[in-house]
Amino acid sequence: MTQSDARVALVTGAGRGIGRAVALALAREGFSLCLAARTYAELEETRRLTELPAKRALIVLVDLAAEEAPENLAGAALDHFGRIDVLINNAGWAPPRVPLLKLRSTDLARMIAVNLHAPIALTRIVAAKMSTSGRGAIVNIASSAARKTPASEAVYAAAKAGLVAFTHAAFAELRHQDVKLSVIVPGLVDTALIPPNKRIDRALMMPPEDVAAAVMQIVNSPPRTCPVEVVLEPQRDPARGYKA
Ligand SMILES: NC(=O)c1ccc[n+]([C@@H]2O[C@H](COP(=O)([O-])OP(=O)(O)OC[C@H]3O[C@@H](n4cnc5c(N)ncnc54)[C@H](OP(=O)(O)O)[C@@H]3O)[C@@H](O)[C@H]2O)c1
Repeated sequence: MTQSDARVALVTGAGRGIGRAVALALAREGFSLCLAARTYAELEETRRLTELPAKRALIVLVDLAAEEAPENLAGAALDHFGRIDVLINNAGWAPPRVPLLKLRSTDLARMIAVNLHAPIALTRIVAAKMSTSGRGAIVNIASSAARKTPASEAVYAAAKAGLVAFTHAAFAELRHQDVKLSVIVPGLVDTALIPPNKRIDRALMMPPEDVAAAVMQIVNSPPRTCPVEVVLEPQRDPARGYKA
């Protein structure tokens, strides 16, 4: 497959966890990739695991909390590949649980920027380029925190709830350009984002590959159907055995 034949996916937060699993699944389906995050070594490891040559797996180091980051990132991917067919807004961040009144304002701003502003900005930039191709898909990774409103995660929950609402509203606007807009709402996934916690049975958490499988179902969904919201929960509750 030549570079110009392959469909191109931009995956944020591709260095580990869900983003790495999604990148590997897309590579297996023949996509070329733009892999974005802040840590070069982790992105390089993702690229190695895809077995793609460097020209088909572009690494872009970016801090998505920065105002200009979405434009710079999309610009780098478009300069290199000339197209973006699939955008996976996966990068997410939250500090360890902290009560609202003790949350640092810099952490508040970073949570809103990374979890909500960057996906919205990237969607606007990328959808404008996709609108003529008729085969684009944008998948946003939200969280069950959007619905369960856990204590000490108010801002993260608000950002993720905003991402769910944004996806539904943006779908209403972009559906007639044949751009698929989807949001995945996962419960606990076994990644570094969830630190060791004796109240959680990690063996019951979802593996990141299961979220990647849902992403691929969305990307490969039939042309006349769009799975706008997909809720994924662990089959068994990883915290159940520890409740009072
Ligand atoms: N794990 C769960 O239980 C769970 C449940 C529901 C939803 N989610 C969501 O799933 C997504 C992926 O999370 P994960 O569990 O895979 O977490 P993870 O293992 O911590 O991976 C997060 C990825 O996002 C990148 N990232 C974080 N902040 C960034 C920034 N400012 N700029 C650019 N990249 C940044 C990280 O790379 P760098 O640190 O190198 O930048 C990393 O590659 C997130 O949106 C998260 O909210 C996770």
